Amino acid sequence: MIVLGIETSCDETAVALVGDDRRVPATMLRSQWAQHQHFGGVVPELAARAHLDILPGMVKAVLQQAGISAADIAAVAVTAGPGLIGGLLVGATYGQMLALGWDKPLLALNHLEGHALTPRFCDAVEFPYLLLLVSGGHSQFLWIKGVGDYELLGETLDDAVGEAFDKVAKILGLPQPGGPAIEQAALIGNATRFALPQPLAGRANCDLSLSGLKTAVRQMVGALGPLDAAIVADMAASFQSTVARLLATKLKQAIRQTQCNYVAVAGGVAANNFIRQELQKICTAQGCALLLPPLSLCGDNAVMMAWAGIERLRLGARGDTEFSVRPRWPLHETVLREKIA
Ligand code: KG4
Ligand code: ZN
Repeated sequence: MIVLGIETSCDETAVALVGDDRRVPATMLRSQWAQHQHFGGVVPELAARAHLDILPGMVKAVLQQAGISAADIAAVAVTAGPGLIGGLLVGATYGQMLALGWDKPLLALNHLEGHALTPRFCDAVEFPYLLLLVSGGHSQFLWIKGVGDYELLGETLDDAVGEAFDKVAKILGLPQPGGPAIEQAALIGNATRFALPQPLAGRANCDLSLSGLKTAVRQMVGALGPLDAAIVADMAASFQSTVARLLATKLKQAIRQTQCNYVAVAGGVAANNFIRQELQKICTAQGCALLLPPLSLCGDNAVMMAWAGIERLRLGARGDTEFSVRPRWPLHETVLREKIA
């Protein structure tokens, strides 16, 4: 069984063909970042137009690359939310059109489910497992009990971790997306130079808070006068290590709470090497396995959407004939209708 996945929820246009044997006959991803860069962030309307411009050509290209025709495809899986409404409409409508034309089921899926099931694609891990989902829009601890069975254990009360990286990068005059830029700058920085607060670290729950940390960075940088290379590197390193310690502390709490054997990390921030190492230390000390996706599957991609589609089809999903795109769509509100019926 091969599923065509389409992902257009933010500024990445992605298309992939994935098999239920976990092979990827073809995958393609185009980032629009260059188009948004001089605006200092993703411009929703530009993003939607860019998806529309390149999506049809990308679908054609992956089919050609894999030597696969519509007849070989079991279903089309699209991201229906959460994300930017214009991009979601472009991807979901285009996928719906393909599915109708090819007479195949359309699966209108939650983007976060794609991230959440990635560890099963990469490592074939069994349910349940603990998931730390850390991206530009979400920072959550989730207990993944099955497909469409997700329990929220705790989440950020304000900024997402990726968002905090992006905002701190802006304060430091580093390029966007801020995560990779901060990680790079931090390589030569002194992580002990600036003592930053760790909001909510002392609370015995899995909630996070990042906005006070970002404000502290802004105030400290403001008080230091003009930025120089040493301040940028030292603040990047101090911020990154504070976030890593905060996530590690909360991960320890979540492991205790769930008594889990497996911890998976997903989302763009999961690409951060320093954070990966800190989380690994906690998992080793707590005696559980840490599952980290390859870098290409940490950020947004279409392989994860096609895979989520495969997981649902295996459990009897028949496709979504009626659906709406949802800019806001929490993962724990996402169910598998066929399992409940
Ligand atoms: O999952 P993702 O690609 O898109 C969303 O669904 O949000 O995550 C993007 C976020 C951005 O905020 C980006 O700065 C952050 O992930 N990110 C990183 C790294 N690479 C990407 N944050 C920290 N370190 C990184 N290496
Ligand atoms: Zn994402």
